[in-house]
Amino acid sequence: EEIENEIKSFNASSADELEAFRVKYLGKKGVIKEMSARMKDVAPEDRKDFGQSLNALKDAVQERIDSLKEAIESQSGTESNEDLTRPSGLEQAGSRHPVTLVRNEIETIFQNIGFSIAEGPEIEDDWHNFSALNFPEEHPARDMQDTFFIEKDPDIALRTHTSSVQVRIMETQKPPIRIIAPGRVYRNEDISSRSHCIFHQVEGLYIDKGVSFADMKQTIEYFAKAFFGKTKIRLRPSYFPFTEPSAEVDVYWGLENEIDHRITKGTGWLEIMGCGMVDPNVLKASGIDPDIYSGFAFGMGIERIAMNRFQIGDIRMLFENDIRFLKQFQGAW
Ligand code: PHE
Repeated sequence: EEIENEIKSFNASSADELEAFRVKYLGKKGVIKEMSARMKDVAPEDRKDFGQSLNALKDAVQERIDSLKEAIESQSGTESNEDLTRPSGLEQAGSRHPVTLVRNEIETIFQNIGFSIAEGPEIEDDWHNFSALNFPEEHPARDMQDTFFIEKDPDIALRTHTSSVQVRIMETQKPPIRIIAPGRVYRNEDISSRSHCIFHQVEGLYIDKGVSFADMKQTIEYFAKAFFGKTKIRLRPSYFPFTEPSAEVDVYWGLENEIDHRITKGTGWLEIMGCGMVDPNVLKASGIDPDIYSGFAFGMGIERIAMNRFQIGDIRMLFENDIRFLKQFQGAW
């Protein structure tokens, strides 16, 4: 009776307290087990009553546990009305930026033929951005017009191209070198629908024994066909301080109508990159012997190619992060 009163008046405010209560009475070394062990001391004619009392105690404990459990759960809200069998909502995934889409595609195309990816700092010194690349001291590209300088003497600037990464690789690796250097570059230019002060480039570099202009042309043609589909390329003579000879590459952007051979899509030739044979002075500056090795380099702007690929009319759209613009690329690769 005493024990029964104890049980009935027990109160718990947490699941832990309730568990301690359960162990105390129903556990292996609990009160009820202990009392059952005393059965042998009970006179045979009283054993039946004794057993029934024990069972009644057991039931009382269980009853108390059940009712307290309900009270605790409704208090803490662990028993919720949520329907756990309901299907979950779809996760809203973002989309890749068109510049990233194009950059990834260019990277894959070159990785497929053995180029690896190299990276370097966006804040560069004069040596890696200009001097090692054979820019004469008074070259206009060093001018305040084109370059964002951070410090003067010694000059520190935001890199104007990722050719600086090529220099860093040549300084630290031995040929054969086969890398592409994708990344953000900066030029102090007026912002318009066609140009921006920030843009992205992928530059490439291949150095080994006996690398020729023909190798370069083949590599670029392979890229153009892989990226643009059935097309042809054209090289026009050009000038860069770090390559000699240098060329500008156009790809034929336009599909000929098979019936009357008129171009029904695209606008003819599209300039996509600069390229050339690495100038011996550049090899020398980075510690590579130009009498043993030769190589080619190329560089292209990602924005221009992305604008062509997705028919984007204004480069500024690529930097405004307008969600309505970005959403259009959902599901593209
Ligand atoms: N660095 C050049 C630019 O930014 C591109 C280029 C790279 C041209 C390599 C030739 C060879 O315009």
